[in-house]
Amino acid sequence: MVGFGIDFGTTNSVVSAFNGRETRPFVDSNNLPHPSVLWYRGDKKPVVGREAKDRIKDFGNTPGNKFIRSIKSRIQQETEFEIFGKYHYTWEIAGEIFRFLKEDAKNRDTTYPTMNEAVVTIPLYFNGQQRKAIRKAAEVAGIFVKNFIHEPFAAVIGCLFSNSDSLNLLKNIKENILVFDWGGGTLDITLVKLDSGTISEISNQGYPGRSGDHFDEILMADVIDKFRQEHDIYSQGFWVDTGLESILAHDIEFAKIGLSERESESVEIADFYSFNDKGINLDSEISRKHFESLINLDIQDAMSLVDKVLDEARIQISQVGRVLLIGGTSKIPLLDRMMRDIFGTSKVQRIANADTVISEGAAIISHYYWQPYLVRPICIQLSDESYYTVFDAGTILNPKTAQKEVKFFCTDNRDGEGILILADRFDDIRCQVKYPIIKIPIAKKLRDVYTEKVITDFRIDQNLILRASAKGSIEDQPVYAEYHDICYGLRFA
Ligand SMILES: Nc1ncnc2c1ncn2[C@@H]1O[C@H](COP(=O)(O)OP(=O)(O)OP(=O)(O)O)[C@@H](O)[C@H]1O
Ligand SMILES: [Mg+2]
Repeated sequence: MVGFGIDFGTTNSVVSAFNGRETRPFVDSNNLPHPSVLWYRGDKKPVVGREAKDRIKDFGNTPGNKFIRSIKSRIQQETEFEIFGKYHYTWEIAGEIFRFLKEDAKNRDTTYPTMNEAVVTIPLYFNGQQRKAIRKAAEVAGIFVKNFIHEPFAAVIGCLFSNSDSLNLLKNIKENILVFDWGGGTLDITLVKLDSGTISEISNQGYPGRSGDHFDEILMADVIDKFRQEHDIYSQGFWVDTGLESILAHDIEFAKIGLSERESESVEIADFYSFNDKGINLDSEISRKHFESLINLDIQDAMSLVDKVLDEARIQISQVGRVLLIGGTSKIPLLDRMMRDIFGTSKVQRIANADTVISEGAAIISHYYWQPYLVRPICIQLSDESYYTVFDAGTILNPKTAQKEVKFFCTDNRDGEGILILADRFDDIRCQVKYPIIKIPIAKKLRDVYTEKVITDFRIDQNLILRASAKGSIEDQPVYAEYHDICYGLRFA
């Protein structure tokens, strides 16, 4: 059976297939992933991918043309998006990218079946609403989401298991692998443990924003600022034409990428601004040093997140066997240098298929029908500070296997509410309360009544979100909370 995996990225998206012997990424004719860019023209179906990205330079957002980039960063928005007077949900727009990916894969290699289902990768911070929106976007294209899997985790799977022999070879290997995935919209860092035929996430840190798109914005603001200074344009009404602005954004991204190879880059746009009826050209030279000074704090913060991941996992730098640097933004030389300084050059790996490895990992999971399980137990903190286990480690994360009703007695209802505290249990001593606390309205303490029954229900839904509800006696409706921050594990041998 051919398994399909989809990496729907902020900047680039890729589909891969795995037939049990080899992975097959469906990249474009230049061997590159497909830009997650849409070009709407009037009523016509949008153009998606490389052609759309290349045309930004020709058309920008001039009348009759609308380019949409980074729709993934806005996938949670409930409000509709206006395109030429018609309103679309963000998942409908994302759905056009899924439709394009499906058609492209089919046209590129007709020996593969049509992708009607796939494992889809998501950033670590994606909540239930974002996952639902992605599911709907895939449905637009007639793709059923078999499962979601975290992007960095899928990257490790893609890196380790693209060959069927690796299952056997790796079953007795123990290794800690740090994945550092910095893309256009998200920084995801995961510490993964390979041990006795299992592979598990031990700690995760996922941060939206302050990634490639953000660096483009910083650089663009800096270039515009310099342009105003050079030309003494201080008027309050300074305004860049939206068409030119989209072209500048495009050029800035190319310049930023170029700075990873070269010491300086230039951006030139003729007649960028009209001042006193005169067209002024924008001609800006950007040095790598200057760019690095603009993003230095972000890089420092990214490095402290690496520390946080290791601290949470209680793993020393020396215990990390290798570091996978993936995502376009991690190619920034300053970051690369810092990672090598910390972990040592030999441990830091830049894999050849870094652009496609996430989707390849998802395709492998899809092929083998691997089901993610819970790495650590999820517990409720009791009044004596001991813990009651709701779901054991190893519980398969799906609605059939992970569902439980638990009844409690609330021992302290003084304020008219009970407090339900869920914890992630690392070991017998260490529990981390990282989930939001649920406050349940219950009857106040009566004369002789010191306890009140609380009925709780816990389940993992089809999007791998832990949903908890709790109800005391006075409210008809239970109080709900959802938790997306769960570490996944897989058994491969
Ligand atoms: N050599 C480079 N140096 C610096 N930045 C780069 C380089 N190559 C690509 N980028 C930037 O990396 C980002 C794209 O990376 P990638 O394709 O990994 O993102 P993505 O997977 O689409 O995003 P995300 O995973 O955050 O949803 C863009 O912001 C791009 O400008
Ligand atoms: Mg990515």
